[in-house]
Amino acid sequence: MRESALRVLEECKQIAAMSEEPGRITRRFLTPPVHKVHAHVRGRMEAMGMAVRVDGAGNLRGLWQPRGTASRRLLMGSHIDTVPNAGAYDGVLGVVMALEWVQIARDLELPLAVEVIAFSDEEGVRFGVPFIGSRAVAGRFDRALLDLKDSEGVTLEAAIRAFGLDPDRIGEAAMDGSAAGFAEIHIEQGPELDAEGLSLAVVTGIVGQTRLTLEFAGQANHAGTTPMRLRHDALAAAAEWITAVESLALATDGLVATVGKVIVEPNADNVIAGAVKASLDVRHAHDAVRASAVEKLADGANAIAGRRGLALQRTGQLDQPAVPMDERLTSFLADAIEAEGMPVKQMPSGAGHDAMVMAARVPTAMLFLRSPGGISHHPAEAVLEEDVEAALRVGRRFLQRLAADVG
Ligand code: HGY
Ligand code: MN
Ligand code: MN
Repeated sequence: MRESALRVLEECKQIAAMSEEPGRITRRFLTPPVHKVHAHVRGRMEAMGMAVRVDGAGNLRGLWQPRGTASRRLLMGSHIDTVPNAGAYDGVLGVVMALEWVQIARDLELPLAVEVIAFSDEEGVRFGVPFIGSRAVAGRFDRALLDLKDSEGVTLEAAIRAFGLDPDRIGEAAMDGSAAGFAEIHIEQGPELDAEGLSLAVVTGIVGQTRLTLEFAGQANHAGTTPMRLRHDALAAAAEWITAVESLALATDGLVATVGKVIVEPNADNVIAGAVKASLDVRHAHDAVRASAVEKLADGANAIAGRRGLALQRTGQLDQPAVPMDERLTSFLADAIEAEGMPVKQMPSGAGHDAMVMAARVPTAMLFLRSPGGISHHPAEAVLEEDVEAALRVGRRFLQRLAADVG
């Protein structure tokens, strides 16, 4: 298994170099470097005897079908798009690990088909809406998304066509209901496994997530001649609101709320900001707590805008409920970890994953690998060889158990 573990780490490093930006990892939905990732992963898949296709939403899909058997199919995979200045493992590790699990199923000659999906967009960086690839596979793709525009004004539809795909075939990407399950392997992206000195965890559920944009519309004016009492400063208003976002999250158990992106117009040193677009990302394990927090924050923004003589516009990008993982598949993972002599850690995921979209259609489970230093969405993101090896050993037991169960 050590050789396979080293291959996984090497593959992730190779794919990390396929970036929109020299010297750092940025790979948004169907941008040019995705062609290189597809070619690389397709080469791996075809060398393993997998049938490969790219669907209308840009998901690269490889099917391993044991000869002569009408085996039940396990879906596996994760995303190959990244945030800007990302690490090398968020998403990609899940695709590369899935190929190693296929290799294990082949070597053991298990009566189990495995379809590996490299999802085209989970982060939502390019078009502001996440899960484009997994929505299509789960049959939840809303064609209105095709009109979304990126920062260069390119529509989602045009981006799909520019990549050489046909958006009219997105409907064909939808899975049928026959799959035995979906398993996603992913880094934890947080500090828990590292703090407890553990390699792996099984995911009990994925917290719910709201993403929206607030636009504060004030009055641009001269920074030198406009008295403070006459200002309608959109950036000062947004700043007041951003500190309120942090205060509410600090005061609410289990809530995280983040303003990660601010676009300021006209964004000049000597001009009072006329308009500010601010992102909001709110997450909690309980949907009612998340919804209440979002409304409190929106009401707070309204009050600030009103007091300062600004207008406020709210645009929603995502309202994703919390999703439990499938108990049966999760127990197979937990039993496999225990059989390998490791403590069985069960934990929720604070990060969103394609698994939360797939879970609406098929029994879904997730396996976490330790994030050394607890860091992710950052170049310092890492994975340990010993943890990859552990995940391969667990994979062997999980696949045997699933094959026996669905055989
Ligand atoms: O934002 C997230 O939770 C994930 O990394 N896309
Ligand atoms: Mn991510
Ligand atoms: Mn991810």
